[in-house]
Amino acid sequence: EKGGYDHFMLKEIHEEPSAVRDTLTEWDEVLGVVEEIGEVERICFVACGTSYHASLVGKYLFEGLLGIPTDVILASEFRYSAGALNDRTLAIFISQSGETADTLNALRAANSRAKTLAIVNVLGSSATREAQHVLYTRAGPEIGVAATKTYVSQLTVIYMLVAAMGAPELMDRLGRVPEFMERALKDEDGIRELAATCSDVSDFFFIGRGFAYPTALEGALKLKEITYIHGEGYAAGELKHGPLALIDNGVPVVAISPPGPCHDKTLSNVEEVRARGARVIGVGSISDESLRKEADDFIGLDPEVDDVISPLVYIVPLQLLSYHVSVERGLDPDKPKNLAKCVTVE
Ligand code: F6R
Repeated sequence: EKGGYDHFMLKEIHEEPSAVRDTLTEWDEVLGVVEEIGEVERICFVACGTSYHASLVGKYLFEGLLGIPTDVILASEFRYSAGALNDRTLAIFISQSGETADTLNALRAANSRAKTLAIVNVLGSSATREAQHVLYTRAGPEIGVAATKTYVSQLTVIYMLVAAMGAPELMDRLGRVPEFMERALKDEDGIRELAATCSDVSDFFFIGRGFAYPTALEGALKLKEITYIHGEGYAAGELKHGPLALIDNGVPVVAISPPGPCHDKTLSNVEEVRARGARVIGVGSISDESLRKEADDFIGLDPEVDDVISPLVYIVPLQLLSYHVSVERGLDPDKPKNLAKCVTVE
């Protein structure tokens, strides 16, 4: 049932290219929902955990590409902070399981005040029955507790939604994502070797700017969940506002820096942490000589993956890194302690 892989998580990471391909077949459904929804002046994403990180990417897309003001709210905070809903607001609820209690409660509260759309992986789950509109991620069942292929499928639906609402040029680039992911998966041996050299540290930092910032948060969440190593994701520009005090000799800092307008600024942040002794793990374009030069370790991805589509591709090596660190530490990545696949209590 694990298809020859040692763990479901590893199998599910390797299924990411096909999860994206299958989700792209939902294009007609996306067009249909966009037509039904009609005019939208504001977007409000609501989700938890990894689904929240997918939502954050949505904010960069809707605001950056379409100029639609977008909020992203943690479902557990929704009742304390969702003031701006009205009939021209589209509230988007992202949930792999469609059963997360916090997300369902927020959905119920929003249904009478806004247009609601649920983006869900599990067919027929509660969120699909309660939302006014539904789109499915076509990732197939995910057994590993840590979300992997469902995350990239959620991102795929969000990108399609943005394409359908006014940025059709995204679709060509989305079509190439599975191929970029396949290339990233081929480098697994290098990542396994890297994991073996950093499995006994106590802290890890992940930094990124713009589209790379949600990737930093998601990379850190994967690490915490399955390796029990303390991992923090930061917007690279926030470093000097506090976290830099924690950077010491040998602390791994994963610097996520795809080609794009943020590249040079992130590189200066890399120089700052390096000057304080950090061990820099650069994640960038394979032809990025400047990042490679500043980094102790380097994970190279296809140069055609720019910052806008980077969330879909740059997360792949980070998931693999957490997976291999977990295995290296003798843990079971499929069953992290204290966590459940589906959180049905508040
Ligand atoms: C992390 C993870 C959790 C879920 C969160 C929301 O790997 O799996 O953070 O993303 O519990 O779950 P859903 O998406 O089912 O609402």
